[in-house]
Amino acid sequence: MTAALPPFIEAASPHVMNTYGRLPIALSHGQGCHVWDVNGKRYLDALGGIAVNTLGHNHPKLVPALQDQLTKLIHCSNYYHVPLQETLAARLVALSGLENVFFCSTGLEANEAALKLARKYGHDKGIELPEVVVYEKAFHGRSIATLSATGNPKVQAGFGPLVGGFIRVPLNNIEAIKAATANNPNVVAVFFEAIQGEGGVHPMNDQYLRDIRQLCDERDWLLMIDEVQCGMGRTGKWFAHQWSGIKPDVMPLAKGLGSGVPVGAVVCGPKAAHVFKPGNHGTTFGGNPLAMRAGVETIRILEEDGVIANAVHTGGHLRATLERELSGLAGVVNIRGRGLMLGIELAVPCGDLLGQAADEGLLISVTADSVIRLVPPLIMTTAEADEVVAILVPLIKQFLFDKMHNKTHGASAHKESLINE
Ligand SMILES: Cc1ncc(COP(=O)(O)O)c(C=O)c1O
Repeated sequence: MTAALPPFIEAASPHVMNTYGRLPIALSHGQGCHVWDVNGKRYLDALGGIAVNTLGHNHPKLVPALQDQLTKLIHCSNYYHVPLQETLAARLVALSGLENVFFCSTGLEANEAALKLARKYGHDKGIELPEVVVYEKAFHGRSIATLSATGNPKVQAGFGPLVGGFIRVPLNNIEAIKAATANNPNVVAVFFEAIQGEGGVHPMNDQYLRDIRQLCDERDWLLMIDEVQCGMGRTGKWFAHQWSGIKPDVMPLAKGLGSGVPVGAVVCGPKAAHVFKPGNHGTTFGGNPLAMRAGVETIRILEEDGVIANAVHTGGHLRATLERELSGLAGVVNIRGRGLMLGIELAVPCGDLLGQAADEGLLISVTADSVIRLVPPLIMTTAEADEVVAILVPLIKQFLFDKMHNKTHGASAHKESLINE
C-alpha cells in the first residue's frame, strides 16, 4: 500500500503519529456537499467529516459569521463571562427543553463530563461506588473512561486496566436491564446513544426509550443520552431521542454542533443541572467565543434555511432509493437509521468499499466491519442523494458479486475497516 501513495502524502506523513488507517487522499477545499483533493479530483461528500460538517463546506452564511468572529475574539479564559456561551446555552435549552449547559470541545469530553456528573450525582446521594449502565456495541470516545464505557473490545484492547463501575446490557431489551440491575443500590445512571453510530448504526426503539425513561424515574437514575453523532438535526429532529417524546437528564453533544469548528456541550435537565459546583469540572478551550459563535450560527442557519426538514426529505428519498435498488439482493442484510444517518449492513466485511468509493469520487465510511455508513451534510439535495446512489449501488453489487465468486477488486482495496472516530 505504501508504494502506491502519491509523493505528497509520503512527504507529509513521517512526523504525524500513525494512529489512523488513512486512504491515500489529501483534501484541499470544499463547496457545499463536494470536496476536492490536492490533485484537483472532486468527491461527493456523504461522510461530512463523520457527521460534523452539518452545513457542508464554505457555507455562504457560516463563513462570513466566523470571519467576523475571528476579528473580534477567538478565545478568552473562563475566568471571565463569555456572552456567546449564554446565547448558545439558551438556544440549546430552548431546543431540548432542558435547563443548563456545560461547554467543552469534543464528544469524548462531553461524555467524560457526563460520567463524572453521574458519579457526583451518586456520591451526593451517599452512594460511594456508583455504577453506570452502558450498552453492547456502544461508542463513547477514546479517553480511558469513555473507552471503558464503549462496547467494542477493539477500542479497549491494550488500554487496560479499564475504568470500573460499568454494567453492560444489550440494546432494546428492557427486561435485560432490569435483570442486570436487580437489587443493585449503586446504579446511578443509564448511558446510551439514541442511534449507535460507530457500533453500526443501531437505533434504540422509541418504545424502549419511553420504558427506560420510566425506569430511570422509578429508580431515581439519570437518563444520559449521547447525541454526539445523531443529534443536531441529523435524524430530522433537533435531537434523535425527541422522536420518542421523552427528555433525558443529561445530553452530551459535539460533532455537528459547530459545523466543523470543535464544540462540545453537556445539556442537563433539572435532576442534573446543579450537580457540578464551581471547581468540580472545567476546560481551557470549552466555550471559547469562536466555538460558541459557530454553534449559534449553525443553529440559526439550520432554522432559517429549513435544513432539518431537508434532512427528513433528502434522508427519506435516499433511503427509499437505496431500498428500491438493494432490498432483496443477496448479501445485503438491511438498511437502517433515520434522516441523514443511514447504515447499509452487508453480510460480509466491506472495508474495501471505502477506497473503491473514493476512487469513484464518493466519500463514505464503513463501520463495525460490515456497515456502510452515510452521514452527509444536512444540506444535501435529492439530486446529490441520487448521485450517491448512482455511485454506491453498482459498487455494492460488484463487491458482493466478487465476494461470492471469491475475487479481490481494485488496486486501492483497503483491507481494514477504518475506525477513526
Ligand atoms: C456517539 C459518539 N460519542 C462520542 C464520540 C467521541 O467524540 P470525539 O471523537 O469528538 O471525541 C463519538 C465519535 O465518533 C460518537 O460517535
